Amino acid sequence: MNIIVTGSEGQLGSTFRAIASRHPHWSFFFFSHRDLDISDEDMVAARMRECKCDVVINCAAFTSVDRAEEDSFLSYRVNRDGAAVLARCANEQNVLLVHFSTYNVFNGASPIPYQETFEAIPHGVNAKAKLEGEELIRCTTGLSYIIIRAAWLYSRFGKNFMKTMLQLGHERESINVVSDRVGTPTYAEDLAEAVMTILAKADFKKKYAATYHYSNEGVCSWYDFALAIMQQAKLSCRVFPIESSEFPVEGPRPWYSVLNNNAIKKDWGLEIPHWHFSLVIAIEMMRNEGMIG
Ligand SMILES: NC(=O)c1ccc[n+]([C@@H]2O[C@H](COP(=O)([O-])OP(=O)(O)OC[C@H]3O[C@@H](n4cnc5c(N)ncnc54)[C@H](OP(=O)(O)O)[C@@H]3O)[C@@H](O)[C@H]2O)c1
Repeated sequence: MNIIVTGSEGQLGSTFRAIASRHPHWSFFFFSHRDLDISDEDMVAARMRECKCDVVINCAAFTSVDRAEEDSFLSYRVNRDGAAVLARCANEQNVLLVHFSTYNVFNGASPIPYQETFEAIPHGVNAKAKLEGEELIRCTTGLSYIIIRAAWLYSRFGKNFMKTMLQLGHERESINVVSDRVGTPTYAEDLAEAVMTILAKADFKKKYAATYHYSNEGVCSWYDFALAIMQQAKLSCRVFPIESSEFPVEGPRPWYSVLNNNAIKKDWGLEIPHWHFSLVIAIEMMRNEGMIG
């Protein structure tokens, strides 16, 4: 099976690259933004043909919620138009499209974990662009696709909350972190391996038209997550809880970002680790690689 991974120098793309050697029976073709712009239809079609592609895993995205508020053009070009380009090309060449989206398509007002069937009410430019990208994939007739919405993604690659906390933990004696927003972290490696399991079980004679939620199990606030990171990394930096009003940010963020993972677990027989369990593994891996002391 030939698999193209787009956005391969981003956080999730780098994670797929790191785990690819565990799946030697498949051929991976990693394309960074420089090598393949997903909004360029001719280039996307050509790359799929050259690679005799069976699956495209789209890790390319515009992910800065705050920058999208200042300049919506890039967010829509990648998150909406790029998704549509991939959908059209994948459909023409009979390729399965695995695409990622975000918990941000919900407004965070739900009292219970978000199921895939709940109404998406995106707040902010990036969330709207991501949802429109999803919808253009879903309405591409004949396309085989799996969309996975994740939350609070982190890994040893790229920029993310865990790495920011580790850096601040080294630089400061104390930090304040918001405790009134809850969700569930998603360890990128768990998500990438879940995709590998799905591909191993998928029947390529069938067409898939699925939207799923995937995060680690459990619930925490950003404060809880920060505290666990400091403890696990054995950093002495103290963490104090604050309210969101004390830490203003530009783009909108949902209060409640807990995803219900039941559908993806049931359909593909996945077992998803608790967020704290995966954090321990993530920090241990960074320690083994000399990224932290
Ligand atoms: N990060 C999170 O907390 C989070 C949470 C939930 C869901 N997700 C979803 O998970 C997916 C992966 O996120 P991530 O954290 O890995 O993002 P990321 O680290 O920002 O990586 C995105 C990659 O896409 C590349 N890219 C941007 N525009 C492109 C284009 N037109 N063509 C090809 N590549 C392009 C970027 O390259 P340049 O940097 O060179 O532009 C970057 O390497 C996204 O769909 C995101 O919406 C993320």
